[in-house]
Amino acid sequence: MSDGSSENVLGDVADGAVVITGAGGSIGTALAVTFGGLGLPLVLSDYDEFNMAMTGAQAMAAGATDVRTVTGDAGDPEVAATLVDACEDHGGPAVAVFNAGICVPGLTWEQPLEMWQRQVDVNYWGPVHGVRAVVPAMLARGSGHTFAVASGAGLVAPPGMGAYVSSKHAVVGLMESLHHELARVVAAGGGAGPVRASVVCPGNIATNIADNSLLSLNLEPDEVELAGVAADVDAASRAGVDAGAAPQTVADAVLDAVRTGRFWVLPQPEVALGALDRYQRLADGGPPVDLLPPA
Ligand SMILES: NC(=O)c1ccc[n+]([C@@H]2O[C@H](COP(=O)([O-])OP(=O)(O)OC[C@H]3O[C@@H](n4cnc5c(N)ncnc54)[C@H](O)[C@@H]3O)[C@@H](O)[C@H]2O)c1
Repeated sequence: MSDGSSENVLGDVADGAVVITGAGGSIGTALAVTFGGLGLPLVLSDYDEFNMAMTGAQAMAAGATDVRTVTGDAGDPEVAATLVDACEDHGGPAVAVFNAGICVPGLTWEQPLEMWQRQVDVNYWGPVHGVRAVVPAMLARGSGHTFAVASGAGLVAPPGMGAYVSSKHAVVGLMESLHHELARVVAAGGGAGPVRASVVCPGNIATNIADNSLLSLNLEPDEVELAGVAADVDAASRAGVDAGAAPQTVADAVLDAVRTGRFWVLPQPEVALGALDRYQRLADGGPPVDLLPPA
């Protein structure tokens, strides 16, 4: 924890443990190193024990005072409850970032139902279970800030990833609703200090999410054959991710949001332009924005 003699590194949020799911991945690692670098204890979770351990080592090297790990599936409510238990020795959860996610391409009517369900389990139910576990603990300690990593695909809808897009739209709605609830509960005296919720909507970030997502379904990337429109949108989406911003961009934006209390966390401001375009077209009765227009 920070030494108390200097300004609180988390702004008006009282020090405690920082929970990060999807900690074995690129954005999860950047988050762990960033919060670890502030001298805070971390509770990391991922189903990939090895990659999570690598992240833990990097976070300790950056200055984390402690790293606890919870291996398990983000879609499992028991795992979410264990995360809160693991914070106990550090005064409870100060910040939680529900970041685990997968994105598997496919046309809406073609993608096998199991792939649909898996994406909804991880991307949507993961944050639901996380919020339901962590918010009561934050209210009890009178301080905390919960984040869900949604996506720019939670604000506009690219083609070829209907399950991902729907799950990320649902997460945006979930966190917006939670924000309003917490504002009322805190105003009514339900928490001694700030207890906040925010949603993170990154644009393209240069990570291996495309292949990692297939591997998480026990599929080798070269085994998956897409054709026609599905193959085209997958290629366009992968090219966008490859040319994306550094994962650190997301970690910096999350830390800034802890300190400022901001709800909408858009690490790349241009993501807001897509959302503005969407709502302008909605008001005008125009067609939806297509972020991957055919060549
Ligand atoms: N990369 C991008 O362009 C981008 C853009 C917008 C939003 N996002 C979101 O950012 C988050 C992090 O993605 P990333 O790009 O760092 O990808 P990544 O593949 O590098 O990291 C994802 C991590 O989540 C873990 N994970 C996957 N399924 C899991 C499960 N069922 N249980 C527990 N852990 C699981 C993986 O093991 C991996 O460590 C995701 O929610 C993703 O949707 C990414």
